[in-house]
Amino acid sequence: MNRNLLSVRPHPSKQISDALAGDSEVVNLTVGEPSYGPPARLLEAIRERISLGAEDPAPAYNRYAHSRGVPALRRAIGEYYRRRYGLAVDPDQQVVVTHGGAEAIWLTVFTLTEPGDEVLIPDPCYMIFEPITTVLGRTAVRVPTRAENRFRLDPDDLAGFLTEKSRLLILNSPENPTGTVYDRDTLQVLVDMAHDRGFHLLHDEVFDSLLYAGEHVPAMALEAASDRVVMVNSFSKRFGMTGWRLGWLAASPEVAGYAAKAHTFMTLATGSLIQEAAAVALNDPASDREVERHRLELQEKTLWFIDELLRIAGFSLPGGAPSGGFYLFPCVTDLGARLMPGGGDGSVSEAVARHLLQDAKVAVVPGTGFGARGEGHVRISLAAPRDRLEAALVRLRDASRRLG
Ligand SMILES: Cc1ncc(COP(=O)(O)O)c(C=O)c1O
Repeated sequence: MNRNLLSVRPHPSKQISDALAGDSEVVNLTVGEPSYGPPARLLEAIRERISLGAEDPAPAYNRYAHSRGVPALRRAIGEYYRRRYGLAVDPDQQVVVTHGGAEAIWLTVFTLTEPGDEVLIPDPCYMIFEPITTVLGRTAVRVPTRAENRFRLDPDDLAGFLTEKSRLLILNSPENPTGTVYDRDTLQVLVDMAHDRGFHLLHDEVFDSLLYAGEHVPAMALEAASDRVVMVNSFSKRFGMTGWRLGWLAASPEVAGYAAKAHTFMTLATGSLIQEAAAVALNDPASDREVERHRLELQEKTLWFIDELLRIAGFSLPGGAPSGGFYLFPCVTDLGARLMPGGGDGSVSEAVARHLLQDAKVAVVPGTGFGARGEGHVRISLAAPRDRLEAALVRLRDASRRLG
C-alpha cells in the first residue's frame, strides 16, 4: 500500500455526503453542488449530437478525444480568457482539458514538483490541496492565515515559509471555504515572489463567475506571470454540472506540454461528447445570461441566509459576507462553549458539526477539514435549494435554543 495514502484523512465533505446519501431526514449542507443545472444551449448541443449520431455510424464523440481536449473546446477556452480578461492563451500550446478542476490540480502538483519538494498551501483552504500533495510524496507546508484578515494569505507571512525546496504555491480565489477574493495588488506581489524565488503559482479560479464584491483577476493576467502561473478552472460550479466532470488548466507551453503528457497516462483523454457541448456554451451569450442569473440568485440567497443565521445565538461572521463562491465559514466557538461548558479536549468545530448532525439533522463540514486554522468554524454550503436552507435555519435555531 502507498503509505502516503494511508496517512491522509478521507475527504471530509465527500465522506459525510457519501455516508448521508439517501438519508432524507438530514439537510445536507456539506457539498458544493449547485441547485441549478447546465445552460439550455449545452443540453441542446448534447441532444443534437446524439440525434445526428443515430444517422452517423462513427460519430466523433464515440472516440477518444485529442489528449489535450477537443480543438473546439480549447479554442473556446482561449476565447473565454480573451473576452473576459483580455488575456492571450494559445489553445494549441497552453490548454489541457481535464476530468474536472480536481484532475487539473493533481496534474499541476504532479508536473511541477518531485518527491520531497515543498508545496505552500494557505491554512485554511480547499480540502484537496494538501492530501494531493501528501499522497504524491511532496511536503505540504501550511501557511497560517488570520480570520481578521478574512483568511487572505499575507505575502510577508509567506516569505517566512519559503525555503530552497519551495516549488509551488496553491491559491484559490474566490476561495472555498472562506469566500475571500484576492485583490490585484496582493496577487501581483505573490507573482513577483514566485518569479524572484523560483516557484510556480497555481491559481484555482473555479468560482470565477460567482463573484459578489471586488474584481476577479486571474493571476496569469499579471505582469511577469506567463511562465510562473498555472490557472485551473472548471465547468462544475459555473454551469451546475459537477457530475459531468469537466475542467481545464492553462499554463506556459512547456508546463502545459508536460501536464498533457501526465494526463495521457492518467486518463488518456477527457469525455468527447461533453467537451463538444461545453465548447458550444462557454461563450454563448444566452448561457452567459443564465450564469449571471444564477450568480444574482446566489448573492441574494447568501445575504438572506447570513441575515437569518446571525440572529441565531452561537453563529458569527467576523470577516463579513463572502466576496465570492457559495460557502459560509461562520465562527461557532460560542455554540461550542455552550455545548461543552467545561471546555472539551477535542476540536470545537468537530464537536459542533457532530452535534448539529445528531441533534438538528443538519450536516455541515467542520472547519478543521480545511486546515488547523479552520478550528472554531464550520462550512455551510449555500448551493442547496432555498427550501432546504429554510429548513436548516429552523433546525439550527431550535438546536441553539435547546443548548440554553
Ligand atoms: C476550490 C475548488 N477547486 C476545485 C474543485 C474541483 O471541482 P471539479 O473537479 O468538480 O471541477 C472544487 C470543488 O468543490 C473547489 O471547491
